[in-house]
This record gives sequence, C-alpha cells and structure tokens, in this order.
Amino acid sequence: MGLAGRDVISVFDLSNVEIEQLMDLADEMEKFSRGITDVCGGRVMAALFYEPSTRTRFSFEAAMQRLGGGAITCAEAGTTSAAKGETLADTVRIVECYADVIVIRHPLEGSAALAAEYARVPVINGGDGAHEHPTQTLLDLYTLRKEHGAIKGARVLLVGDLKYGRAARSFAYGLARFGADIVCVAPPGLEMDAQMARRLAQLGSPVRQYPSMEAVAADDELRTAFTGARGGKRDVMAVFDAIYVTRVQKERFPSAQAFEAVKSSYAITMEVLKRTRSDTLIMHPLPRVDELDYGIDADPRATYFRQAGYGVPMRMALLAAVLGKAARPVADPAWRGRALEAAAWEGKCSNPRCVSTNERYVTPRFVRDADLNQVVCAYCERPVEGAQA
Ligand code: CP
Repeated sequence: MGLAGRDVISVFDLSNVEIEQLMDLADEMEKFSRGITDVCGGRVMAALFYEPSTRTRFSFEAAMQRLGGGAITCAEAGTTSAAKGETLADTVRIVECYADVIVIRHPLEGSAALAAEYARVPVINGGDGAHEHPTQTLLDLYTLRKEHGAIKGARVLLVGDLKYGRAARSFAYGLARFGADIVCVAPPGLEMDAQMARRLAQLGSPVRQYPSMEAVAADDELRTAFTGARGGKRDVMAVFDAIYVTRVQKERFPSAQAFEAVKSSYAITMEVLKRTRSDTLIMHPLPRVDELDYGIDADPRATYFRQAGYGVPMRMALLAAVLGKAARPVADPAWRGRALEAAAWEGKCSNPRCVSTNERYVTPRFVRDADLNQVVCAYCERPVEGAQA
C-alpha cells in the first residue's frame, strides 16, 4: 500500500523503505525549495496549529506553496471556533471540506490520532503534546544522512529532555530503527520513561542513559566499547558523529518549581565543541533557550540552522507523497502497517494529557501493541496498568 491518502501520526506509520524513499524524494525536491513547481497545483493544505510554532508551520506552508499548492492556516486555537467551544472532531470535519490534507499541532497527546479518526483527508501530525513529532524526525534523519553520509552505524549523543520532548522521542525511535548507536543524556527527572526504553530495546538499541555529559565521559566501559582497549584515555565525546540537543520543555512541566529545578542544567559551548571531532554535527530541532551557546553558531559543526532548512524539501516530499502527486509513488509492498489490534479494556486512559480524557465525546479505546506485548491507549499510547496483553 502506497503512502498516498495515508495519515502520518507516528514515525511507526512509515516503514524504513518508505522513509528512505521520502529522503530520496526530498533530494529531488531540494532544487525547488527556493523556487516553485506545480507538483501539487490546485491542492490545499490546512495547517491547524493549536500550539506555537515557527519551523513546522512555516516550513509546511512554504513546502505546499513551493509545490504549487495553497495553504490555509490557523496559528492559534483562539482564532478559530474552538474558542466558542467547537470540538476538535467537528473542527477537522469542517476543515476537510476546505483542504486536501491537514497538518495538526495540538497540546494534547493523541490529538492527531483523534483528528485522523474524523477526517477523510490525510492527517499529518505536526506535534501532539509530549507524544510524537514524526515530520521533525524525517528531517532529522535526512540531515544525518545528508551531512554525515549514513544513519546506520552513526553514533549519536541525545542530550536533553527525554521525558517531555516529542522531537527527541520520535528521533530516538527513528535512529534505533535505522541501526544508529544511541547514547542518552537526560538531567535527573527528565529521563525517558520505561515504555520508551522498552521500545528502544525492542528495536535493538538498549538504553544507555546518563545524567550529564561528564558522566558519559567518565564511563570507562563506554569508552572501551566505543574506542577499543587501545583507546586509552581518549575522550569519548570525540566518537560521536552527531550530538542532538533539545531544550527543557517548560510548557509541559506540572509546576514552575519543577522546571526551575532542572532548567539550564546542560549546554553545548565551545568548550564542549573542542572535545568533539571537526566533523561532528551539532543538531537541535529548535527553538533553543540556553542549551546551545551563541558562541558556537559560526562553527561549521553547528548544523541546526541547515537542519531547519531541510524541513522544506522533506515536507515537500511528504506532502507530494500523501497527496499521491510524487513523481514515483512512495510505497513499500512489504509494509503491513503497525502491529496494533483492538484490546478489550473497560476504563479510561490514565494520562491526564491524553485527548481521550479531555475531549468529552471520545470513547476511550485501547489496542494491543504486539511489539511491546502491552495494552496501550489507542490515542496517546500510554500503557494500561494491569491489562493482560
Ligand atoms: N522544531 C519545531 O517543531 O519547531 P517549532 O516548534 O518552531 O515548529
């Protein structure tokens, strides 16, 4: 089954073959990313953004316009009839009357899945709460392939908020699926949850998580694993092909106090850069707060602005593919979709940030995730404690 007409809610909605095909298509789209083509002439994309965005919304809009199509856009829920009490389900059933594809960003986890349930046009997740940001992952993988040369075998240090960071979560899954070697740094309290750790292990990337970059450098076992016994006291920071940094996601914290306790606990400075190789990529989904020192911006290793730029050709490729307009269809004949079966479970999702616990008309649904052997909420994918898989 091809990608035309499909929703993209999670990185797991795309097979590796499809992701590679999308990256190849993005290579072809690059020549139009400062010009225009008519690949999607006459088509309209709706950008339904209920949370702030610079890169995702603008690059999707630019992508659609560079493809010769049009964009209708909402940058704030308060400017739509959501402010009068219109539900998300009704909103997407209206917006699909005006657009051929919907890109949605929303603070609630599972909101993009809910939108896809109600919309008959393809829905693309532009970020749903702390859950996923699959199109960011596409451009992040594309950046790694383009600037490092390969994803498989790449050694990537993920630094930042692994608890609330949807970009880091989706990217970690993408990296693991393509056989990259991941080491994680998360300040105490912002470590990845058990489900993410299980999923990464199941993907063949057992979690190596540290509280700081200093702790990574101090781990002799890791240094030996990466540099060999002959590595001696070589700084392990020099083995990473990419350092992917994320900000602490202030807006997801339960209290200002909890945020204050962990903010500014890590930063990539020129001192850190000196310990890396001359070709190490410093990546960041942006926006940054204080975790990337402005002093490194002029260094060629600072990849983050180029990375944001790749969002246009990558999203051009994705839009053309879901609209069935790509020169070659993006399709993986072996792809059977995600291994999710309906699971019988009476009750509500335990996640207070799940769309199913916040939108009053939603009937909770649960599925069995065969990869994790776990019953999870069909919207936010939070595991259900006590359910028999
Ligand atoms: N990387 C990213 O999602 O940026 P925005 O929040 O500006 O869209």
